[in-house]
Amino acid sequence: MTVKEKAYAKINLYLDIVGRLPHGFHAIETVMQTVSLYDGVTVTAIPSDIPSVTLTASGDFAVPTGKENLACRAAYLYMERAHCPMQVHISLVKRIPVGAGLAGGSSDAAAVLRALNRIQNGFFSTEGLLMLCEELGSDVPFCLLGHTSLCRGRGEKMERLSSPPPFFAVLSTNGEYVSTPTSFARMDALYGDFLREEKHGNLQGFLAALSSGDLFALTASTYNIFEDPVLDACPRAKRALLSLTERGALCARMSGSGSAVFGIFDSEEAAKRAKAALGDGADIVQPV
Ligand code: C5P
Repeated sequence: MTVKEKAYAKINLYLDIVGRLPHGFHAIETVMQTVSLYDGVTVTAIPSDIPSVTLTASGDFAVPTGKENLACRAAYLYMERAHCPMQVHISLVKRIPVGAGLAGGSSDAAAVLRALNRIQNGFFSTEGLLMLCEELGSDVPFCLLGHTSLCRGRGEKMERLSSPPPFFAVLSTNGEYVSTPTSFARMDALYGDFLREEKHGNLQGFLAALSSGDLFALTASTYNIFEDPVLDACPRAKRALLSLTERGALCARMSGSGSAVFGIFDSEEAAKRAKAALGDGADIVQPV
């Protein structure tokens, strides 16, 4: 049986680190938003005595195709926990830039879990799938459900929020790959235990702005604690962020631990002008 899923990218409208957790993780507070850029994920599975997974990838960005790909790990984890060995083939069409803070790999993995669960006629409940997601990575639970959520803990404690008002975001990636553990280590070196007040955004202010439905209030309260330190090491992303601001973005922010940046506009025309100024590597996306 073959099923197709869309694996959407996310941006972080708000991202703060509020402490350290055991095992090298950090306590975060983030509001993630699914956006309209997606990878195509096609999963074919037939019953088999021995579990096996193959993966092919095409599209705009190269990814590893071996067992280390999180999408393959998701398929093996699903088969192990459901006790249903299959011969699985995953075909990815990569449109989400890799290593950019847009959760492309996490979203592909979540899409594989959704696909296999459809093939298995809903063997796992949503809660069951979320437990598998948690094992695969901090952003994977959000990617399973998508839309707009406040995520805490490592990122797995989710609370669904109201959708933001419509906007056009110009998303820019420049091939400046950023490793997530390296970004967190940089933050540790700068901020120690993250207890000093002035290092933080205003989550309550952001949430109030979101529920007000006012795009100007919302964009004024976006935040990303990673932004300045990571962009200091990513000159092209920093230039893109400045360009978005100069072109009239209501706000320009980095996504996740970098290095993709986005500017939010209230009109498609203004977004198109900003995209044209950035040239290659820019997309216009909308909240989903
Ligand atoms: O969960 P995920 O595999 O995406 O995390 C990759 C790495 O990012 C972790 O090994 C950890 O170093 C760092 N991380 C963290 N705190 C989080 C999420 C990720 O320190 N909340």
